[in-house]
Amino acid sequence: MGEVKRYLITSALPYANGPLHVGHLAGAYVPADIYVRYLRLLKHDVKFICGSDEHGAAITMRAKTINSTPKEIVEKYHAINKQSFKEFGISFDIYHRTSASLHHKVSQDFFKKLNGKNVFRTKVVEQYYDEKEEQFLADRYIQGQCPKCNYQEAFGDQCESCGSDLSPSDLIDPRSTLSGNAPVMRRTKHWFLPMQEYQQWVSEWIRDCQKKEHWKKHVLGQCESWIKQGLRERAMTRDLEWGVKVPLEDAKGKVLYVWLDAPIGYISATQALTNEWEKYWKDKDTKLVHFIGKDNIVFHCIIFPILLHAHGEYTLPINIPANQFMNLEKSKISTSRNHAVWLTDYMERFPEKQDALRYYLTVNMPENKDSDFAWKEFQAKVDSDLVGVLGGFFNRTFSLIHKNFNGRVGFPKNVSDTGSKDLRNNVFSNIEKFKVEFDRYIHGYEFKKASDTYINLARQGNKLLHETSPWKIMGDDPNSAEYILALCMEIVAVLVAYMEPLLPFTCRRLKDYLEIKTDDVQQILDGDYKIEKIKIGKVIHFFERIDSEAVNRELDKLNL
Ligand code: 2FM
Ligand code: ZN
Repeated sequence: MGEVKRYLITSALPYANGPLHVGHLAGAYVPADIYVRYLRLLKHDVKFICGSDEHGAAITMRAKTINSTPKEIVEKYHAINKQSFKEFGISFDIYHRTSASLHHKVSQDFFKKLNGKNVFRTKVVEQYYDEKEEQFLADRYIQGQCPKCNYQEAFGDQCESCGSDLSPSDLIDPRSTLSGNAPVMRRTKHWFLPMQEYQQWVSEWIRDCQKKEHWKKHVLGQCESWIKQGLRERAMTRDLEWGVKVPLEDAKGKVLYVWLDAPIGYISATQALTNEWEKYWKDKDTKLVHFIGKDNIVFHCIIFPILLHAHGEYTLPINIPANQFMNLEKSKISTSRNHAVWLTDYMERFPEKQDALRYYLTVNMPENKDSDFAWKEFQAKVDSDLVGVLGGFFNRTFSLIHKNFNGRVGFPKNVSDTGSKDLRNNVFSNIEKFKVEFDRYIHGYEFKKASDTYINLARQGNKLLHETSPWKIMGDDPNSAEYILALCMEIVAVLVAYMEPLLPFTCRRLKDYLEIKTDDVQQILDGDYKIEKIKIGKVIHFFERIDSEAVNRELDKLNL
């Protein structure tokens, strides 16, 4: 066992305004879960933090459209999403929520501390106001004609037709999306973070991080392009009723913007989890890693680090291994068009097949570029890799041992085959190579490669069986046959021990079947486990094919 290190791992807090889909899982949750489960396997001290983001204009907007209240919406989706994560084995140590009073207090204290250090600049600005709805309008609540391409439905922050970045005052004939009326300009005071004052600090900090851990190219690329454009001041407050109230007398009707709310949720959730939270947030030896999707890169690589740095007491992340997006059957996942694979639907239609989905999302993870979820490919991958390679290897090994050796094998002393030594060296060197590579890939956030290496080890097991055909020599030379199967069991043991991060549900079943306990796993990792301990009972299957009809039904539903 190596040196025990302390880790704090976070996944982006998803908005509690709708259910989760496969893109969420592949983006920020499956990779984090693999990483965390592997760290736990190595006995590191790790806390895995997440929760619902229950604030923001998207939630109030949704409440308006369906004639509900923000509270009702977040209650509903917090419960649904928490359950989905549980069903897919995303092993958070806590799934907290930003409506919790503890979170409000922690965010307000954070704001007060920054305000006390004169970090913010206050400014009165003119903003669009909807007189009928009696509220200031977030950029997304304003639509109008794009000054660049004349598209009529451009939003206050961006034109979706020509892609230009806009601000609400750029729009020609603006209208409020809430009432349809023309908004008026009104003066309002806000608290700004002067990011330009931290430009140099943040560039140097990112550069220093590279000395410890390599960041993904596309993550660095986004940061560099922002910094090159020059950082500007950004409002940290909004005129809204729903959210964490700005804790100042002269800030009635104002709440903290997502930047000073959601990521502080990582801190408040850790406080809710453990009295020892300061060990995770204030000790410089803790390794903090944020798992997010690419839409949150600037937020976690520039804005949140500046806030943490300005605050002064907290530890900063060492890496932000953001993923890109996953599309569905070649087009963007879209809630409004219902073009998605919802986790709740998947669980109903493919019960007990969580590992199959986890596996496909891992080998198809948008690690460095966007990827595509394709139902036929999902089926093909599960059938070939899990059922064929991995399941096939377990099945053949277990059947041969059960049938011919009463369920138990070891390494017989008198093996006539002089090649057995070579076989043994080969198997053990493959296992050692696998362990080193798997470890390197996981620590490098290369989960696709970790997964490939894993399946490859099972492939090597199949190759051993194929080339030595123990069933053919069983009659004449049972010792050699047993020897070969014992080598296969060495591979099985390693596959079971390292399965936990990738396929946690199947791993549990295999451990129960083979009676592999926690201490045994440790011995397998350390290379001093005795496979003779295992008794193979009645042979069962651990993986199932994906039904073609079920796949076709999913494709039909998508209206491609
Ligand atoms: O973009 C989002 O989904 C927001 N809920 C923020 C997520 S990141 C955060 F938790 F810091
Ligand atoms: Zn345009």
